[in-house]
Amino acid sequence: MHSSDIRNIVILTGAGVSAESGLATFRGPDGLWEGHRVEDVATPEAFLRDPALVHAFYDARRATLGMVEPNAAHRALARLDAEWAGELLLVTQNVDDLHERAGSNRLLHMHGELAKGWCLGCDERFGWTGAMGEAAECPSCGTSGTVRPDIVWFGEMPYEMDRIEEALQRCDLFVSIGTSGAVYPAAGFVQTARYCGARTLEMNLEPSLGSYMFDESRTGRAGELVPQWVDQVLRAG
Ligand code: OAD
Repeated sequence: MHSSDIRNIVILTGAGVSAESGLATFRGPDGLWEGHRVEDVATPEAFLRDPALVHAFYDARRATLGMVEPNAAHRALARLDAEWAGELLLVTQNVDDLHERAGSNRLLHMHGELAKGWCLGCDERFGWTGAMGEAAECPSCGTSGTVRPDIVWFGEMPYEMDRIEEALQRCDLFVSIGTSGAVYPAAGFVQTARYCGARTLEMNLEPSLGSYMFDESRTGRAGELVPQWVDQVLRAG
């Protein structure tokens, strides 16, 4: 497919797109996430077992948001969103807020957001800044102790899968940026897009686990590759 035939684009981002902003990726060489095993902090069971630990972990992650800025990759994707006349959906697995702070609008957080809370008492979701902790009071129903981070943990269903699936089926180009391809269902998006006839491109520091499923794989830093690619797409489009 020639670049000028592209109308609908779906972009998937992972932790690698925020790495150059100073946020740690999940799968470091030691297999730990900021010093913790994933099962100890990112599952509903962990929250039941030790809510104080899980809150402290996400409170610390939320606090780092105030210390980091969007990088050239976030900014380039926001520019594409602003200038692309066709359909576009940016699906991020990241729980940071760097895409929206860079200016992306057509954005969906499939794994939730650090800057939001969810009350298990009244089922409301709301913006949250600062620490949450076990005694957090729900701004909607006023109950204490029922608020959890609005993060999709392992074993839970990612958000807006119907909308994502529909966009994947309609897209002409699927682009995956800075994700290891280790976590489903996101790791399977490339197969859906391919099956429905889309061209597929990966940009990652190293070939991901699913690299062989992409038509094209560019290796390097997102802060360099993404602005180059956005220039290329906007010139051709
Ligand atoms: P990972 O940490 O698994 O993968 C990050 C990828 O980014 C790796 O393949 C790195 O090589 C690559 N990378 C690192 N720095 C980069 C850079 N500057 N430019 C481009 N690529 C770079 O993170 P994710 O794939 O996002 O889920 O992880 C997926 C999910 O697993 C997360 O959303 C999270 C986690 O457990 C939940 O919390 C539910």
